[in-house]
Amino acid sequence: MWKGRFQQPTAELLQTYSESISFDWRLWPFDIVGSIAHTAALEQAGLITAEETELIGSTLREIGAEIEAGQFVFKRELEDIHMNIEAELTRRIGDAGAKLHTARSRNDQVALDIRLYLREECDHVEAQIRELQKALVTLGERYREVIIPGYTHLQRAQPVYFAHHLLAYVEMFERDCARIEDCRKRINVFPLGSGAIAGSTILLDRELVAKLLDFPAITQNSMDAVSDRDFAIELLSALSIVAMHLSRLSEDVILWASSEFHFITLSDAFTTGSSLMPQKKNPDVAELTRGKTGRVYGNLMALLTLMKGLPMTYNRDMQEDKEAIFDSLDTVRNALGVFAPMLLEVRVNEVSCAAAVADPNLLATDLADYLVLHGLPFRSAHEVVGRAVGLCSERGCQLPELTLEDYQKLSPLFESDVHEVLQVKRSMAARRATGAPAPQNVAAQLARWRAALG
Ligand code: ARG
Repeated sequence: MWKGRFQQPTAELLQTYSESISFDWRLWPFDIVGSIAHTAALEQAGLITAEETELIGSTLREIGAEIEAGQFVFKRELEDIHMNIEAELTRRIGDAGAKLHTARSRNDQVALDIRLYLREECDHVEAQIRELQKALVTLGERYREVIIPGYTHLQRAQPVYFAHHLLAYVEMFERDCARIEDCRKRINVFPLGSGAIAGSTILLDRELVAKLLDFPAITQNSMDAVSDRDFAIELLSALSIVAMHLSRLSEDVILWASSEFHFITLSDAFTTGSSLMPQKKNPDVAELTRGKTGRVYGNLMALLTLMKGLPMTYNRDMQEDKEAIFDSLDTVRNALGVFAPMLLEVRVNEVSCAAAVADPNLLATDLADYLVLHGLPFRSAHEVVGRAVGLCSERGCQLPELTLEDYQKLSPLFESDVHEVLQVKRSMAARRATGAPAPQNVAAQLARWRAALG
């Protein structure tokens, strides 16, 4: 491609070292679509004829079909996907093919290809997140009556509906979708026409090509356009947060599926056994997902570090962006893809949940609230109930087993209805503020998400 300037061929070693075809081949559909759109501007400018436009387009489509069918042989010495396709085009149709790269550089070409690829990937990721949200809502609906202890510090805190816990994840994933949609706006800007760095002396109608490729905006600075990878960093950052959320969900699934919790049972189809211990049923999907979070974070760090020292504008370093981008998308999409069906097959062990939530200490705060409603400042109420809990552990009993007299000795504000406070259903019903898990609130949230997600 640069044979004019050089007397020696590229060393074998360098070819191997510098090639990107082994991974950027997957950009082929975008490279072809981008090139075909580019021919419209070339034709409009009178640089190629209508027949040449037709010939380039049909040959590129032919090449695309061969790549798709696995019949195309990529050449390492042609370095990347852009040169592989262009060289083959020119081999097949001669001069018309050799005109394609007019007023274009691989620097703006690769920027276009990545943007086209990422724009599509954003839509796939979002669709997969929606499926996961739906699975969470479905599971919540299926077990809408189940109450479990909510935890802070992994210590039993207060009772919540199981569905409320799942809906917390639905909210997290909703923010993830919003982040991806927002980032997509900055991906969706058309860079072609920036050339290598300073546009071209040949004037092409960038607006026309942008329109053909459905870009609502066009880059306004050619130097920025070829050296910008912010949009990819943003997406890897959004994907890191998705991975973090998946990892936390994984952790809950792993805990819940343990013998100690026994809140859920995972289906055989989404667990593995042990080659040694016959009793084992391991939550591998969740563990792998938790584990893969590390590489998604790593890819973000790699890309940030890759870009930090680069002088303007394009530098070959930037070829290193692709494996990080591909790996984060593949990893997160695989995780999303397996998590939704796994959740749909989860069985909730209602008896274990009921046993766990029967822990009266979960309602200690309710008891303090009771005293507050009878006029005691909250700090004092907290202390009184703390003494009640202390008394229980001294006697080896539970809060409901203390008598009215016991309670009244701790505070005269306790009345004969004190034991009613210690009922879970009553506690749940009282939590009516927006966002709190009263049964009608949880039902309304399930309905809201069902309507939104379909
Ligand atoms: N394979 C290159 C990349 O991925 C394409 C752009 C190459 N441009 C250049 N001037 N060498 O970044």
